[in-house]
Amino acid sequence: MAYPVVRMRRLRKNQIVRNMVRENSFNIENFIYPVFVVHGNGIRNEIPNMNDNYHLSLDKVEKEIEELRLAGINKILLFGVPEKKDSLGTEAYSENGIVQQAVRKIKGSFNDVMVITDVCLCEYTQHGHCGIIKNDYLVNDESVELISKTALSHVEAGSDMVAPSAMLDGQIKAIRSSLDESGFSDIPIMAYSAKYASTLYANFFKYGTGSSVQFGDKKTHQMDFANGNEALREIALDIEEGADIIMVKPAMMYLDIVYRAKSEFNIPLAVYNVSGEFEMVENISRDLRWDLKIELMTAFKRAGADMIISYHAKEIARNLKN
Ligand code: PBG
Ligand code: ZN
Repeated sequence: MAYPVVRMRRLRKNQIVRNMVRENSFNIENFIYPVFVVHGNGIRNEIPNMNDNYHLSLDKVEKEIEELRLAGINKILLFGVPEKKDSLGTEAYSENGIVQQAVRKIKGSFNDVMVITDVCLCEYTQHGHCGIIKNDYLVNDESVELISKTALSHVEAGSDMVAPSAMLDGQIKAIRSSLDESGFSDIPIMAYSAKYASTLYANFFKYGTGSSVQFGDKKTHQMDFANGNEALREIALDIEEGADIIMVKPAMMYLDIVYRAKSEFNIPLAVYNVSGEFEMVENISRDLRWDLKIELMTAFKRAGADMIISYHAKEIARNLKN
């Protein structure tokens, strides 16, 4: 049957009808909000180009979490900016590293907030690479050992879920077995499974964590943005190695990957709406900004995302509540 019997516009006639047939929506529960912790005291500095996202010293973290909770956000993704960097990223897996301290503090004060920790070494190495460099090359297995050590130290500090972001081979397997051996078999892993080497992380490095690479790039481990099939392979491997949640990153330009991943594997899937995407959206004209954010978050869900990691989350949650 077709026109004139079929008229698609009948179900778009007014808002009530449109809402009735609406297929996708998002809610506050879907959001994970990134939080950046730094050493020092009394620091709450807005990160450049990232409106209303801050560097927080430990004495300012609880107030921020309190505000997030009031807005309805109860899941954070924690990033740390260390005091000292070295070639082995030592502070990443130190018991008194900035993330470990922050986790203990937050978990000590809030029992209804899920603390997820980003696990990588690039914030902690002086060269900005995600692990150990030998002959200008990021070596895999030795780096995975340190990454796995980092994940364990986060969990020992109280992290509720670890999110390994380095895209090294075998990192999920290594983390899973080290957590299991240490009695943390109930701690889930959210794997940055299909993470592309993207221009859109630049602001995060430059201003978010201050960890831009000092030489080379990350193309020997992060994915080529031209590839789709390879992403599905990466995801399949992470699932096999024990990932509980898979992630596609960045989000906006990679919704084909989200759709394919969800269709093929049907396991919980997160998208990371990264810093460059945030910048793009924040730079559209003011009167379009809010509607665009809603369109964008809905598009993530329509493509198949269950969770959305976004720097917009606080603002969206606040506005939805009002
Ligand atoms: C790695 C990490 C990165 C981002 C989150 N975790 C950068 C990278 O691995 O290249 C980027 C996030 C953003 O741009 O918002 N620890
Ligand atoms: Zn990294």
